[in-house]
Amino acid sequence: MLFNLLLGSAAVTTAASVPRNTPRLAATDEYIWQIAKWQAGESHGNPATPITGWYDFNVSAAEYGQGAARIPPFAAHCEGVADGRPLASEYAGCTLTAADGTSSASVSARVLPEQDVQAHIAISYVFDSNDESSTERNFTVVVVEDWARERPPHDFTVQPTETQN
Ligand SMILES: *[C@@H]1O[C@H](CO)[C@@H](O)[C@H](O)[C@H]1NC(C)=O
Ligand SMILES: *[C@@H]1O[C@H](CO)[C@@H](O)[C@H](O)[C@H]1NC(C)=O
Repeated sequence: MLFNLLLGSAAVTTAASVPRNTPRLAATDEYIWQIAKWQAGESHGNPATPITGWYDFNVSAAEYGQGAARIPPFAAHCEGVADGRPLASEYAGCTLTAADGTSSASVSARVLPEQDVQAHIAISYVFDSNDESSTERNFTVVVVEDWARERPPHDFTVQPTETQN
């Protein structure tokens, strides 16, 4: 378990530092996702119970690229909980609210076990490539934001990175 968690974090870090001049990444330099109504908070209920975390947001993207490099559009609603110290969770599936017939497409999110006061939430969009190989493609971003107190839901954009297999 610990090994898996460490491997997951390391993979995110490595993916983010992949040079931009590899052919496939070059095509996705301007690929962005919209995050809507982002909320990530900590429970403040019974002081006798451990603190838990929760998140709730929508994520979506327009179609990007063409042919074999095409990334299909999608929209999903993600919500989940985290616990432990540091707050963490495994990947949990988000509800796809729009997709384009790529039946294999899925979106998931998890709270990464970072030793930090801020929330580190990974969001992954996985689908089969639009070519004969139908290999799995995986775009992931890690959003780092404060665990909200009074902050209202807010919208922003992020730039995901493709995991190189
Ligand atoms: C997608 O990539 C992320 C980051 O490398 C990884 O943590 C996750 O497990 C991958 N998801 C799948 C379904 O392979
Ligand atoms: C978030 O997704 C839900 C479910 O599809 C939708 O009802 C809601 O309007 C969306 N909100 C925003 C701000 O996109």
